[in-house]
Amino acid sequence: MKTIISARSLCKKYGAFVAVDGISFDIEEGECFGFLGPNGAGKTSTVRMIHCVSPLTSGTLTVQGLAAHVDNRAVKQQTGVIPQEITLDNDLTVRENLQVHAHFFAIPRREARRRIDGLLQFVELEKRRDSKIDQLSTGMKRRLLIARALLNQPRILIADEPTTGLDPQARHMIWQRLRQLKDQGATLILTTQYMEEAQQLCDRIVIMHQGRILKEGAPARLIAAEIGREVTEIRAAADQDETLIAELGPLARGHERAGDTLYFYCDDGRPLMKKVLELDLPATVHRPASLEDVFLKLTGRSLVE
Ligand SMILES: Nc1ncnc2c1ncn2[C@@H]1O[C@H](COP(=O)(O)OP(=O)(O)O)[C@@H](O)[C@H]1O
Ligand SMILES: [Mg+2]
Repeated sequence: MKTIISARSLCKKYGAFVAVDGISFDIEEGECFGFLGPNGAGKTSTVRMIHCVSPLTSGTLTVQGLAAHVDNRAVKQQTGVIPQEITLDNDLTVRENLQVHAHFFAIPRREARRRIDGLLQFVELEKRRDSKIDQLSTGMKRRLLIARALLNQPRILIADEPTTGLDPQARHMIWQRLRQLKDQGATLILTTQYMEEAQQLCDRIVIMHQGRILKEGAPARLIAAEIGREVTEIRAAADQDETLIAELGPLARGHERAGDTLYFYCDDGRPLMKKVLELDLPATVHRPASLEDVFLKLTGRSLVE
């Protein structure tokens, strides 16, 4: 494995506000690396430093051995970016948007035409090549952003919340395309607030919260380490906690109350479920553990605003 991006004590401040608070990470060539966290965690601030559009406040950041700084052309040449905001030119058609971008990268006209045709096919927008942007659905716009990000044939692709606000079909189509790109050898950097997306796509993730990294690792390993294999949720009033924990606690790895629910974490939930049936607790959900459990366990299941 070769490290392609490396950050040490990376900070980003906006005035006195600390958006990225001294984070360190290494991204390996060819992996899909995810920044997972809620709105405001500092994901976009981090990736904007990686693709050299936002200056670091302090710390170090290297991309393919080059120091990342604003307008580092060598880094920009090798990086494709799918931004969080839909930054397409509404006055132009689908194809014209790509042509303008190809021009930025000084791709010769004939080569640009060839790449644009191929990419429109890749994101299934060939039939829309002459449509104006406002005639496209959000899913189509996001696909066009993917095509645009790939015009310079980047080795590193940054996708900043590529599926936020999309319906399930559009989301799955984007997941397939991103997986295809990874299979072709691209290094993928994904930011997402969707735990399922991180679980679907990422080899490794960092969980970010308030500018800090809380945990790092492969999704499945994080789940196994923090939660276990299974979660049982019991909706019951808090005055039942003592009884329930006495009965079920010894059969679980851990438990936690949040709001109207008591959570039990297990590696093998069968003995606990047997007990739940004996106790006749109807309002119970038994399910596999997920990254969402890890996230909520780390940040607290109650809403903090
Ligand atoms: N240009 C800016 N000026 C001031 N504050 C900003 C700016 N950009 C982001 N922030 C703040 O920094 C924090 C992190 O933002 P961001 O990196 O966009 O997080 P995320 O992408 O995880 O939602 C947020 O509280 C946001 O309001
Ligand atoms: Mg963001």
